[in-house]
Amino acid sequence: MFTVLALALIPATRYYQIDQPLLRLFRGAGAVDPLALHLEGEFVENNLGTEQGADGSVTVRMIAQQYLFVPHCILVPAGVPVHLRITSADAVHALAFNGTDYNVKVLPGTISEAQLRFANPGEFKTVCREFCGAGHYAMRSALKVVPREQFPVLQAGERGNCAVQ
Ligand code: CUA
Repeated sequence: MFTVLALALIPATRYYQIDQPLLRLFRGAGAVDPLALHLEGEFVENNLGTEQGADGSVTVRMIAQQYLFVPHCILVPAGVPVHLRITSADAVHALAFNGTDYNVKVLPGTISEAQLRFANPGEFKTVCREFCGAGHYAMRSALKVVPREQFPVLQAGERGNCAVQ
C-alpha cells in the first residue's frame, strides 16, 4: 500500500522540482504566482465565487488545488453567460462538469478562461479529469444552477456561493 502511495505522489513532487521553476521562467504577462494566490491579486479568498455583471452575466473565479476546488460549491443562474476564470495552486488539474461537454484544463501560473452557459436549473458534479496525485479521484465538488429569478441579487463587490442561496 505504501509503495502505491509513494508511486502516486511522484508526479506531484516532480512538479515542484522541475516544472514550477520552468513555468516561472517562461510565464508572461497576466500570469499569477501559484504560491501567492491567497495573499494578493484576483484569486484572494473574498474574490472567489460568483460575481454578477451589470448585464446579468456572471464571472466565476475558482482555484484548483490538491485535492479540492475552491469554492467547494458554485452557484450560478440559468440561461446567462458564465465567464469562468480558474487557476491552480499546485499541479495540473482539469475541471469538468459531469453531464456537460465542458472540460477546462487548469495550470499553475496561468489563468484558464472558459465561456459556459447552463440553460436549465440543476445540479452538476464537478470533477477533476487530469491525474494530479494521490487524492485525484476524490477531487470532487458541485455546481448548482438556479432559476435566474432565484439567484440572489448581489451588491457590488459581493460574491455568491451555495451558502447564500
Ligand atoms: Cu486534480 Cu486530478
